[in-house]
Amino acid sequence: MFDFPIFDMPLVGHRLMFAFDAIVHVFVSHAAVGGSIVLALAQWMAIRNNDRKFDELTYKVLFALFILATAVGALTGIGIWIHVNIINPAAIGALLRVFFWKWFIEWIVFNIEMILLLMLFLSWKNRPLGTPAKAGHFRLVVGYAVASWLTMAIITAILGFMMTPGTWLASDFPAKPDYIASLFNPSWMPSLGFRTFFAIVWAAAGAMILTWFYTRDDLETRERAIRFFGKCLYISVVPMIVFGYWYYLQFPEAAKSLFAIGALGNKLAAVPGLAQKVAIGLAVLFALSSAYLFFNPRRAPMLAAIVLLVASGTLIGQMERVREFVRKPYIIYDYMYANGVRVQDMPLLKKEGYLKNAVFLEDEYRTITPQNKVKVGEKLYYFQCRYCHTINGVNAIQDRVKGWDEQAIYHRIGQLNSPATPFMPPFAGTDEERAALAAYLATLNGK
Ligand code: HEC
Repeated sequence: MFDFPIFDMPLVGHRLMFAFDAIVHVFVSHAAVGGSIVLALAQWMAIRNNDRKFDELTYKVLFALFILATAVGALTGIGIWIHVNIINPAAIGALLRVFFWKWFIEWIVFNIEMILLLMLFLSWKNRPLGTPAKAGHFRLVVGYAVASWLTMAIITAILGFMMTPGTWLASDFPAKPDYIASLFNPSWMPSLGFRTFFAIVWAAAGAMILTWFYTRDDLETRERAIRFFGKCLYISVVPMIVFGYWYYLQFPEAAKSLFAIGALGNKLAAVPGLAQKVAIGLAVLFALSSAYLFFNPRRAPMLAAIVLLVASGTLIGQMERVREFVRKPYIIYDYMYANGVRVQDMPLLKKEGYLKNAVFLEDEYRTITPQNKVKVGEKLYYFQCRYCHTINGVNAIQDRVKGWDEQAIYHRIGQLNSPATPFMPPFAGTDEERAALAAYLATLNGK
């Protein structure tokens, strides 16, 4: 079995702790990839029209991008590595075995991207519009856009693999894994297409918002720039929807049925049609605010820019949240459960027991006695449940079992992966272990 020393995040829980970092990273990384493409398009436009004002504005947009990508993007990216290593080392271990070289290449490409961004930023002022040096500079912009898109292409393969490992599952892992099948998993291409256009939409919306703020005393440039960024946005919306639908089709059926719960949580998802209404409401806000800026750039109020930021940001954040959630109960679909237990190990763990096979467990807890039963139950909680529950914070297990007696809890543990809660992995252990976990959870009730 792949178990590791236990790390527990009290109160906040693993999921929220990870989400804080990952969602910020998603905002910034997509802004960086889409921004590099929008920047290249804007530079091409400025050079073609010899438009000095537009060129100056793109430099300011680049500056915002530069700070975001190098500071926030790179830091939260490293944050993800730290988080996944302490939260779910089994899963990241499995992914590294399959994607080692691809990740290594991604790291090199990312470094190239950062170097190009640095060169671009530092040399911009020395290569003004209308000089031959600007043409060379434009090649740098294109190189930067290609490098940042490539990092997305590789990471998307890994993310897609976690949702749809596809024929890789049939290969003999870890003895003879099928690396090509893992890379060309069914959702890679559609999700890459989807993310590419959605990153452009997001970055173009960001550029429209920044333009609004940067050009308060130059309405003519504002009009030109917002119209240009707006065109980038609208042209990308259609392929984004087409690829998005293709991507959606790749999701396993069980995952599709979890969309509403992923977006709103268990309780609100029970309200019929609410998830769809919220999604449509956000999309309408996005459409109205972007159209206001686009058709009326001179008169659009700051509110339009802020609504556009909030609506597009919420849509992206929700989308990532849903994508992460609907993969449950797995972390790598059909291969590994969210709590690091491999699907193929489940029959063995049910037969021989989890305690016998756990690596990081003191020997005194390997056999259950009346004296250590509750303590062993606590260990089992930390082994299998802490990934999604906390004792008394977010998704508190204490509240989940409130009012239940030991027998009821024991019964429920036997059907964690039931139709009512299909997002929970089944309990991995013997009957005796299940009773120990129930005994421990029942003690939380008394407090
Ligand atoms: C993949 C994440 C995940 C794991 C792992 C997990 N749970 Fe849950 N569990 C949830 C979620 C999400 C809910 C629903 C919370 C809600 O209703 O808002 C839940 C709800 C519950 C409930 C309440 C069910 C009901 O009928 O109201 C119990 C009891 C529970 N979990 C016990 C456990 C135990 C015991 C373990 C470990 C063996 C465990 N869970 C592991 C995600 C998880």
